[in-house]
Amino acid sequence: MESPPAPPGAEAMQMPEASGDYAPRRVLFTGGAGFIGSNVLIYFVQKYPEVFFLCLDNLSEGANLLNLDPIRGARNFLFVEGDILCSKAVRRVLADHQLDTVMHFAAQTHVDRSFVVPMKFTEVNAMGTAVLLQAARECRIRRFLHVSTDEVYGENVHGHIFSETDGFRPMNPYSASKAAAECIVHGYVESFGRDLPIVVVRPNNIYGPRQYPEKLIPKFILRLQRQQRLPLHGGGSARRSFLFVEDAAKAFDFVLRKGIPGEAYNIGAEPGSTKTVIQVAKALMPFFDIDTDSADSHLEVVADRVRNDASYDVESTKISELGWSPSVTFEEGLQRTVEWYLQHPSHWKSVEAALRADNGAPTPTAAL
Ligand SMILES: NC(=O)c1ccc[n+]([C@@H]2O[C@H](COP(=O)([O-])OP(=O)(O)OC[C@H]3O[C@@H](n4cnc5c(N)ncnc54)[C@H](O)[C@@H]3O)[C@@H](O)[C@H]2O)c1
Repeated sequence: MESPPAPPGAEAMQMPEASGDYAPRRVLFTGGAGFIGSNVLIYFVQKYPEVFFLCLDNLSEGANLLNLDPIRGARNFLFVEGDILCSKAVRRVLADHQLDTVMHFAAQTHVDRSFVVPMKFTEVNAMGTAVLLQAARECRIRRFLHVSTDEVYGENVHGHIFSETDGFRPMNPYSASKAAAECIVHGYVESFGRDLPIVVVRPNNIYGPRQYPEKLIPKFILRLQRQQRLPLHGGGSARRSFLFVEDAAKAFDFVLRKGIPGEAYNIGAEPGSTKTVIQVAKALMPFFDIDTDSADSHLEVVADRVRNDASYDVESTKISELGWSPSVTFEEGLQRTVEWYLQHPSHWKSVEAALRADNGAPTPTAAL
């Protein structure tokens, strides 16, 4: 049967879902007080005032409530302190607030710390994901976005660039716990995917404002500010692809709305954003008036991580077919990041412990 002609203006009034895109209405954001979660949450709360967002976070490692200052008091946003490991608490927020979508960021994320407390990483990252999936299933969630990582593939070998069909070969307790989480996700996709549509993102290394200074770029910025030398694990030859957090937020938005349930999407940085740690260190120095000639005297080689993957190059054809591509160059992203840290000197109460060159050993290295 032919459908009747659309009334004038109907096209403009169409909801995104009518065009085939998924349109969330009430979203649970886990880990929204952390680095990526807060940036993505701010982006979503401001871009979609008609959608309600509830952040569930237990304010542990990486979290800072000040990260959420830009949306404090927003009518479409609520913060709830709670643990994703508590299935009762998770089910309660999903049911009480009639949520229909989950965006899952909460995790233990610091690779260096994963060598010291691997069980904690397994518990939060794998078990926490399992708790959320089961609660989401029971509460009839309409879409679940799981935030994984490029690290699940392990490091590149013989120049092979990872695509979504590659297997997992995680090399450290952090990436192993994220791979375990993805295996649990995969089990739910295969067994319950018709009722619980799940999409997965595997982004490159993400950087930008609001990242706790235990991580590479903010650690280097704050150490340069304090006129401290920059520690290079094993000489700084490890290479990473750096994706600016605003580009990541847009990518998550694309995958949530346009991604095919059951599919995973790599999110790669633009080619000019692939840098060795030593290149990152040197790119930051001009912001602190350190010239090329004296750069080496501001660097310090320290013991390498227990395990340090050489690189995680991924190809992202699949997400580019959804219409996304990164737009912030490494130079612009770095400038915006440095400016943010310089403008927010009191964002974290005490960062001295975070600024150590922690390589996963139980005690800090003597070099610092
Ligand atoms: N940072 C990166 O470069 C990167 C790259 C790829 C993927 N990821 C993934 O992105 C996600 C977010 O990473 P991030 O860098 O923002 O981390 P982060 O450490 O800055 O934030 C993690 C957040 O999770 C919360 N959290 C931890 N355990 C919790 C629990 N049991 N219950 C509730 N909340 C809990 C913390 O309080 C914190 O707010 C993680 O899943 C991480 O694996 C990160």
